Amino acid sequence: MRIGIVIGSIREGRIGESVGQWVAERARSHEDGADVEWSVLDLKEFNLPLLTNENWADEEDGPAEVHRWRDAVAACDGFVFVSPEYNRNIPGAFKNAYDLLNKPWIDKSLAIVAYGGLGGVRANEAWRVTAAAYNMHVVGSSVNLVRRVDFAGGELALDEHHDRSLDRVLKRLIGLTRKLTA
Ligand SMILES: Cc1cc2nc3c(=O)[nH]c(=O)nc-3n(C[C@H](O)[C@H](O)[C@H](O)COP(=O)(O)O)c2cc1C
Repeated sequence: MRIGIVIGSIREGRIGESVGQWVAERARSHEDGADVEWSVLDLKEFNLPLLTNENWADEEDGPAEVHRWRDAVAACDGFVFVSPEYNRNIPGAFKNAYDLLNKPWIDKSLAIVAYGGLGGVRANEAWRVTAAAYNMHVVGSSVNLVRRVDFAGGELALDEHHDRSLDRVLKRLIGLTRKLTA
């Protein structure tokens, strides 16, 4: 079973990379995850083009970047979306990456780690609506990090209660993914 941790910010100076690393570290030592391979899918490394053709993923001559992204997503049974909130919503680059694919998302599991000025709650809710388009199964609880408290000065400084919340969300995600892949 493979679960992808998608780092959804491509911004220079992003906090998303350290949030993604925190998620990956806790995931790899999670007590329920002995049979789980965790892959970090960092959007910045995929350098994806803006969607101007919704069939790229399926076309043989579609952009190589899109095919690489498709293959990485298709190889995963479930996901953690590490998502900031931009203008009260999902960041454009992350939504574009999601829109570029269709089949590789269908019926898979998803957990959300959101962050922003108010904990990324609006991006979190927006993902739940968006993920319904491909019948993704989203863990009900989530992790929400608040900029002024949890990464004041641009450095992640997390209280232990976030570790515990993340562990609970991952437990649900692992269980759900196991059921869906059975
Ligand atoms: C274009 C832009 C819009 C933003 N809009 C919001 C917002 O609507 N709500 C919020 O809580 N934070 C907002 N923020 C603050 C981000 O959540 C915060 O800067 C966070 O660090 C961004 O994630 P990143 O550093 O991984 O890119 C915004 C940031 C940017 C760059």
